Amino acid sequence: MAQIIHKPSWHIDEALATPHSVFLDRRELLKGWGLAGLGLAAAAALAPVRVRAAEGPAAQFYPAKRNESYTIDRPLTPEEINSRYNNFYEFGSHKQIWRAAQALKTNPWDIVVDGLVEEPFTIGFEDLVGRVALEERLYRHRCVEAWSMTVPWTGFALADFVSLAKPLSSAKYIRFETFMDPDVAGGQKQSWYPWPYIEGVTMEEAGNDLAFMVTGAYGQPIAKQFGAPLRLALPWKYGFKSIKSIKRISFTETRPVSFWEAILPQEYGFWANVNPEVPHPRWSQAQERILHTGERVPTLLFNGYAEQVAHLYDGLEGQSLYM
Ligand code: MTE
Repeated sequence: MAQIIHKPSWHIDEALATPHSVFLDRRELLKGWGLAGLGLAAAAALAPVRVRAAEGPAAQFYPAKRNESYTIDRPLTPEEINSRYNNFYEFGSHKQIWRAAQALKTNPWDIVVDGLVEEPFTIGFEDLVGRVALEERLYRHRCVEAWSMTVPWTGFALADFVSLAKPLSSAKYIRFETFMDPDVAGGQKQSWYPWPYIEGVTMEEAGNDLAFMVTGAYGQPIAKQFGAPLRLALPWKYGFKSIKSIKRISFTETRPVSFWEAILPQEYGFWANVNPEVPHPRWSQAQERILHTGERVPTLLFNGYAEQVAHLYDGLEGQSLYM
C-alpha cells in the first residue's frame, strides 16, 4: 500500500490535535468555538443548527414515538453541541463542517437499490419513509477518535429495509454508497480520497435489532451535517461505519471495501467493533471523552451492546474484529 500523504484528523493523537478536533473539557470546548466568555446558560441558549421541521423531507412524521427498549444510562448530548461537531469529509476534514453541509440538496432524494435483489429499483426518500414505521431510539455513538455522544435518533430498523428490498439468498453483504457531487461537497474535489464514501455490513449484522436507518434526530428530520436525509446508526461499531447521506444500497456476495479501509487498511478494517482492549495502532481505545462534558469514561466492549451483538462474531475470532 502506497504511503498516504493526506491523513484524516483522527491520524493525530487527540491530545495533540488543534482546536479543530477539540478534545478538551467543556470550558475549553467552548473556548475552541470562541465562546469562552459565555456562561454555560448562555452557551446552552445557542440555537441548534438544523433544518426546521417544516422544511425537511417527510416532516409530517415527526416527532416519532420513542421505543423505550433502546435507552441509555447517560445524559443526551445537547443538540447545539453535536450539531456543530461533525465528521463529514465531503464537506471538509475538520469538525466545523455544519455550515458547508447546508449546501447539500436533500429534496428530492432518490435511493438506488440494486445488486442481488429480486428486482433492482429506485425509491424516493419520502416514498421510502411512507413504507416504514419511524420510531425514536436513544443510542450511544462512539467515534474511533475516542469521543462519544448520546443521540436521540429517529428512523427505522435496517431489517425493515431489507424486507422491502427483497434480497436473493446469495446476498451476503450490504454495500452503502453516499452521493457524489464535488460542486456541492468541496471535499470530494480532494482526489486523494477514494470518493464516494462507502460502507458495508453483513446480512446478519443488518438483521440485528440495533442496526438502524436514521432519518431524524432530536425529534426533527435529520440536519444536513448529520447525514440527511438517510444515514446508518450501528451503535456497537466505531462511528465511521455509520455512513451518511446514503444514495445507493447494493446487496453483494463479496465483502465491500469501505472508504477508510481503502485508504489505510492497516488501521481501519471491515468490522470496526468497539473494543477498549484493542488499541488503534496509534492511540488507546480504553477510554472515551464524552463530548458535552469533557469527562473521560471507560469504553465498553461493543460500546455497551455486547449482549445484543457479540454472538454475531462467534467463530470469527481470527479476524480483525475491532478495527
Ligand atoms: N459518512 C460520510 N458520507 N462521510 C463521512 O465523512 N464520517 C463518519 C460517519 N459517516 C462520514 C460518514 C465518521 S468518521 C463518523 S465518527 C460519523 O459519521 C460522525 O457522525 P456525526 O457527525 O453525526 O457525529
